[in-house]
Amino acid sequence: VIDISKLYAQGDVFTYDPGFTSTASCESTITYIDGEEGVLLHRGYPIQQLAEKSSYLEVCYLLLYGDLPTAAELEKFVHDVTHHTMLHEQMYNFTRGFRRDAPPMAIMVGMVGAMSAFYHDSTDITDPWQREVAAFRMIAKMPTIAAVAYKYSIGQPFVYPRNDCDYATNFLRMCFSLPAEDYMPNPILSRAMDRIFTLHADHEQNASTSTVRLASSSGANPFACIAAGIACLWGPAHGGANKAALEMLEEIGTPDRIPEYIARAKDKDDPFRLMGFGHRVYKNFDPRAVVMKQSADEVLDLLGIEDNPILQVAKELEKAALDDPYFADRKLFPNVDFYSGIILNAMGFPTSMFTPIFAVSRTVGWVSQWKEMLMDPKQKIGRPRQLYMGATERDYVEVEDR
Ligand code: ACO
Repeated sequence: VIDISKLYAQGDVFTYDPGFTSTASCESTITYIDGEEGVLLHRGYPIQQLAEKSSYLEVCYLLLYGDLPTAAELEKFVHDVTHHTMLHEQMYNFTRGFRRDAPPMAIMVGMVGAMSAFYHDSTDITDPWQREVAAFRMIAKMPTIAAVAYKYSIGQPFVYPRNDCDYATNFLRMCFSLPAEDYMPNPILSRAMDRIFTLHADHEQNASTSTVRLASSSGANPFACIAAGIACLWGPAHGGANKAALEMLEEIGTPDRIPEYIARAKDKDDPFRLMGFGHRVYKNFDPRAVVMKQSADEVLDLLGIEDNPILQVAKELEKAALDDPYFADRKLFPNVDFYSGIILNAMGFPTSMFTPIFAVSRTVGWVSQWKEMLMDPKQKIGRPRQLYMGATERDYVEVEDR
């Protein structure tokens, strides 16, 4: 590792690194990834152990404060987060200003940005107490905001959070309850939802997290920074992978068409790829996908796939690809997005909710990285350089002479 900033200060060292593939922008103690070995650690703890033994809110505490909480610390943390889940009534009114068929992700970007206006008593980043309140507000209110965005997009009344429900149960309730019946999800579904949140909680300096850090480097308020992160996540190359995987399953339609799509994926003259297979970072296996597959199996066992052709295609496609030497030789396994898409579809979520749910999960990662950055005395305003490739200096020509 070369500290270019020191070399730059000494002379004229300059690097060109599109996509920042070999440039670290910060030091961090939150998440470690070894893609070759299939390792993902949060504060040193393997993601498999956290997904197995922990809850999402416990992982939130770990990411935010660096250590697993004691029982008393966890109880207080859960209590504090739960008691911030309500939105100010004016935020519900604000939501009603959107077009009735607005995509949930568009509503979320707007609502989180608007938190700077509704909760401006926690926007002073120089005040540690305000920083803490802002962190709690974002983690607690994000599921409520996502559920409000969903309900609004389908024209149903908003459902308020309930303080006696855990984080994942509350979210599922707020999405699927109707005024006539207070829907209570099966604990297996709540657990699967909690795992989806846990497995997406942080992934070090990905595009949206880097966006949050860059926005924050100017001293912008926390809600504006997280809104910037959500906007970045919205892009199909980042948050849209499970949606793309599900849409491909819909396109395949029936299991008998799977061989045709497998053949297309192997054909080097066809740009088609099996969505939800392979990973840029994890070259052996994605440790999150292993846990997510287990959850997907539990959910499908509970709900059955007989009436759902998409889930039948998913099951058959997974088997066909795992048995095919093309995919085995290239280590192209189903990734976390393949399984999360299946689970969310089985639960009844439309694909338009997949990225909002990713945003709910990732909020704690963004907030933890934002807090870490504010505490780092070495951080300065983010200001990448450029390689200027344009015209050299030339004289202005009057418009009638051009
Ligand atoms: N279907 C068919 N072939 C594939 C696939 C796929 N999904 N993914 C990779 N390959 C093949 C490539 O054609 C290449 O074959 P070759 O060696 O014969 O030329 C080989 O596997 C290696 O592929 P690369 O493109 O070098 O792998 P890379 O690391 O660049 O790509 C990526 C990773 C982008 C994720 C790729 O696997 C892909 O496009 N997958 C489908 C989209 C997807 O699921 N994306 C979400 C990933 S999860 C996440 O980002 C959170």
